[in-house]
Amino acid sequence: STDQKVASLLAIMTIEEKVGQMNQYNGFWEVTGPSQKEDKARKYEHLRKGWVGSMLSVRGAKEVRAVQKIAVEETRLGIPLIIGFDVIHGYKTLSPIPLAEAASWDMEAIQKSASVAAAEAAASGINWTFGPMVDISRDARWGRVMEGAGEDPFLGSKVAAARVKGFQGDDLSAVNTIAACAKHFAAYGFVEAGKEYNTADIGTSTLHNIALPPFKAAVEAGVRTLMNSFNELNGIPLTGHTYLQRDILKGEWGFNGFVVSDWASIAEMIPWGHAKDKREAAKIAATAGSDMDMEGFVYVEELAGLVRDGVIEEALIDDAVRRILRLKFELGLFDDPYKYCDKVREKEVIGSKENREAVLDIAKKSIVLLKNENHLLPLKKEGQKIALIGSLAADKNSPLGSWRIASDDHTAVSVLEGMQEYTGNTLVYKKGADLSIGETAFTQETIINETDKSGFDEATEAAREADVVVMVLGEHGFQTGEGRSRTNLQLPGVQQDLLEAVYKVNPNIVLVLNNGRPLAITWAHEHIPAIVEAWQLGTESGRAIAQVLYGDYNPSGKLPMTFPRNVGQVPIYYNRKNTGRPFPNSDDPQNVFWTHYSDVDNSPLYPFGYGLSYTQFSYKNLKLDRHTTEVGGKIEVTVEVTNTGDRGGKEVVQLYVRDLVGSVTRPVRELKGFELVELKAGETKTIRFTLDHASLGFYNNDGQYVVEPGDFKVFVGGDSNATLSADFSLH
Ligand code: IFM
Repeated sequence: STDQKVASLLAIMTIEEKVGQMNQYNGFWEVTGPSQKEDKARKYEHLRKGWVGSMLSVRGAKEVRAVQKIAVEETRLGIPLIIGFDVIHGYKTLSPIPLAEAASWDMEAIQKSASVAAAEAAASGINWTFGPMVDISRDARWGRVMEGAGEDPFLGSKVAAARVKGFQGDDLSAVNTIAACAKHFAAYGFVEAGKEYNTADIGTSTLHNIALPPFKAAVEAGVRTLMNSFNELNGIPLTGHTYLQRDILKGEWGFNGFVVSDWASIAEMIPWGHAKDKREAAKIAATAGSDMDMEGFVYVEELAGLVRDGVIEEALIDDAVRRILRLKFELGLFDDPYKYCDKVREKEVIGSKENREAVLDIAKKSIVLLKNENHLLPLKKEGQKIALIGSLAADKNSPLGSWRIASDDHTAVSVLEGMQEYTGNTLVYKKGADLSIGETAFTQETIINETDKSGFDEATEAAREADVVVMVLGEHGFQTGEGRSRTNLQLPGVQQDLLEAVYKVNPNIVLVLNNGRPLAITWAHEHIPAIVEAWQLGTESGRAIAQVLYGDYNPSGKLPMTFPRNVGQVPIYYNRKNTGRPFPNSDDPQNVFWTHYSDVDNSPLYPFGYGLSYTQFSYKNLKLDRHTTEVGGKIEVTVEVTNTGDRGGKEVVQLYVRDLVGSVTRPVRELKGFELVELKAGETKTIRFTLDHASLGFYNNDGQYVVEPGDFKVFVGGDSNATLSADFSLH
């Protein structure tokens, strides 16, 4: 068995070789963290000694074969390397950014997208992705919200499982699957004020009910690795977090894969003030269950000495090494260390027509229609004069989004190109203004144009002549992602001014948003008749957008994160608490002593779960099979959904529950079920949900899952403001 093979190998390893398995080095080009002043010669020397268990960011069949050859042929034991890479939303052929994909609420499509990414990466020598990122976040200021599935733990858990299944498939040893890595364990999405790498201070209730569920779901879906996170949680940096890694993950959840640190995050316990030096950092991290040190040089330098000096037990090291070797066996690397290095497959698979079709499909499904007054959309296909405005409309780079290391720059289909495929209209493109100026690159800040409005006149001229104006505005793809937190959620640069200038001459505007986080577009919502949330959709971006604008695809996406009215409302999320002073049912306009701001409404601009279609859906006959049952029992919920419009469409039917009284207060509503249904014009379907033990409880402040008797409300509808409701109770 695999365990026996692992045990026999472990038995003949020296302590240095064991520690070597726990050491991961960055390859020799893309740096995805602060450069450690790479000492290539030293890394090669360690490779040859068998002191390296894994490398990240080495890619390409040829390059991977070269490093693998050193590990296999030049080291004493010939243990193959596991090659990690950030395959976040595709390898070369890019899917939408993960936040966008989550907006599809289509688990089959999300799984497919991850499997395409896995197949391409696996054809390029890679056997392990640092994905899925499953951090829940309620803070649009945090740049990494683009990598996750949004704010909700229920949706986030489903997406996490779908992505794990997509990457890993049914057989990890197959040549088109790779090991997945749920990251960043944990609570990274709760960094204070959305500021990158910051402290996170959350209570047990939020930790267990909001932050942890997607990790648990990933573990249950069979994820083979986890990555811990850069933040501290309530004063303990995560690489040193024994409770989360040993007690919860490897204890309660029975996880038998391994945990990799984030980039140098073991060493970062020193500046955090949690370890006085590298030796202490190594001791704390190994004891806490961090199995592999990514580019931190801490384990390789310190661990063997710590064992020799009797400071940590060798059994701890053995446990980590066993986990790492197990995965290498499961991937089939011991049978054929070069199985992922096949140049022929590399050529055939990467960028194939099928892969492009697959990412186009998920791109269309990720688009959310936010507003559509007077049926401005879909656009008529003939006889129209269309002005296309905004530099993002012609941009072939920005739609690729952040985290696209293996993809070639400027390879997305732009909106301009997508719209040019429809030839029945006259299309005039004017950029109006550049969004960004200067070079933008993976490691650089994006420089935004804050002043140059010289193209405004041309743009307004074109708009004046047009029947319809399509404006593509938003964020550059490099404005979100790691290290890209922002305090302003409005349209960056001069884009708001451009929008207003164009609106003055022709208000018949379709605003297409490209962004990697919720934006505060309140003015646009109040003035612009049609708004389409098109995120950063990857390689086929512009084609997907054009197909939606022209009605060849009826949008069905729903927001996975609340859109605020302004940045001051953040964090804003649907599953909030009622407080002791909710909005008063009082006519007294002077009454200010309730939870609110005095300068903005409590409601968001667009709620979680929100999204329109070119058709309409109505909900009726919400029924429960019983209105009372015992704790542990089940309630069957049915509802009739009708497509009342004149074209076919898809709707995400959402079910929310409110537990009215809890020993720990419960949110005003929590998503507990959803189904993506397709309905022809006029068609009605009955949708069924089951509420059971797993959906009616919560983690109490001791971290125990409890279901409490009492009264509940269920709400069903097309977003988190659903009003159709019914009551039941548990006794
Ligand atoms: O996987 C990433 C992680 O999400 C952030 N720091 C670097 C890692 C490896 O590139």
